[in-house]
Amino acid sequence: MIKRAYIETYGCQMNEADSELLSGLLQQAGYEMTGQDADADVVILNTCAIRERAEERIYGRLGWLKTWKAEHPDGILVVAGCMAQRLKGELTQKTPYLDLVLGPDSYRQLPELLTSVLSKRHPVVETCLSKTELYEGLPVDHKPGISGWISIQRGCNKFCSYCIVPYVRGRERSVKPQEILSQAQRMVEQGFKEITLLGQTVSSYCCDGVRFSDLLYQLNELPGLLRIRFMSPYPTDFDESLCKAMALPKVARHLHLPLQSGSDRMLKAMNRQYTYGEYREIVDRLRASVPDLALTTDVIAGFSGETDEDFEQTLQALREIRFESAFMFRYSERDGTVASRKMPDDVPDAVKGERLERMIALQEAISKEQFEKMVGRTLEVLVDGESRRDPGQIIGRSSCFKTVLFENAGENPPKQGALVQARIVKATSHTLFGELIS
Ligand code: 5AD
Ligand code: SF4
Repeated sequence: MIKRAYIETYGCQMNEADSELLSGLLQQAGYEMTGQDADADVVILNTCAIRERAEERIYGRLGWLKTWKAEHPDGILVVAGCMAQRLKGELTQKTPYLDLVLGPDSYRQLPELLTSVLSKRHPVVETCLSKTELYEGLPVDHKPGISGWISIQRGCNKFCSYCIVPYVRGRERSVKPQEILSQAQRMVEQGFKEITLLGQTVSSYCCDGVRFSDLLYQLNELPGLLRIRFMSPYPTDFDESLCKAMALPKVARHLHLPLQSGSDRMLKAMNRQYTYGEYREIVDRLRASVPDLALTTDVIAGFSGETDEDFEQTLQALREIRFESAFMFRYSERDGTVASRKMPDDVPDAVKGERLERMIALQEAISKEQFEKMVGRTLEVLVDGESRRDPGQIIGRSSCFKTVLFENAGENPPKQGALVQARIVKATSHTLFGELIS
């Protein structure tokens, strides 16, 4: 009988892309994928460990899955990804009904582990990190649509003092350029119009003498591909050649550039390799090279030792740079990081919460103004299709990464994957409303 597998993904886009790889591997091994746990023989949680809250959520979900296990005595419950790598055997102690704990460098072994796991009496924990694993040449089950992901790099060498990623994802390594180009080519043949290149510090990509900017030039030449995005770069990689490559026609007019803090003291404690002034210079250089570039960022509130003054400097940075939007987090201490070993988690929870709220309120006001500034402008929109909430509306994305909605009027509404021009007539802090210009 054909076995069914169900994957639930938590965390970043890297995990979303890894789930597509897991799904591809399982289908190659003869499994069928299903969209719900109820009719699955295998349930996989692809997990995140970046903040404590992320892990709490997954523990909550595992609690619910105890019932699934009881109802599916031959079912296999798998925890994969970053939380699996971080906690290893500790996970099976806390959740004794788990069958398999699978780290991000062990995915190749998944099919064979699934066949062997049931015959064992104990849960299996497979969490060896590899210096070389890149999963090149394996079948990826891309989620259908017009935008797809390609992981071009795994691991991280930056060791920001707060971050668990280098410990759970291992050392930085880059996929061969030829492999990336042929994967992109295959995706275009399948109908993808936009590709997002993924890596923990994607801009430090380097393989066989090909740097990240070279890769952008090469992908820009791929016929049929309309847009190139990437996540997440590291600020100091933006040298002259990368700033120039940002202006390539197919490279999206959007850059997500994590700042983390506006205080030099905090940036140093975080082991970020730039000062606020240097970050500003990079932003100025980028804005000079690509005038309509939209910037978004990541910021942390309440890192170890953060004073009111440090925090004010972060607010000031948000006011000065005027990001379109930001992911804002309260600092969450992670065991094993340099910060957890050497720096006390000394900002009280209530203060972290207050700072986060102030930061969100400020950024929300800035986002609203930035979005309102788009009213009257004409943007090129990549159409995603009818809005799920309202089929009377067409939804799409601008090159500057803004959601654009417009009336689904006329006899021939634009199809998914079409590039159209829309004049923006209204804005909220998260969405633009446009009129189609034929
Ligand atoms: N606490 C809070 N936020 C964190 N990030 C990474 N580690 C932590 C942590 N321990 C944030 C950073 C990073 C984003 C992906 O998550 O802002 O850019
Ligand atoms: Fe974590 Fe820093 Fe690496 Fe990003 S660059 S994954 S924040 S260690």
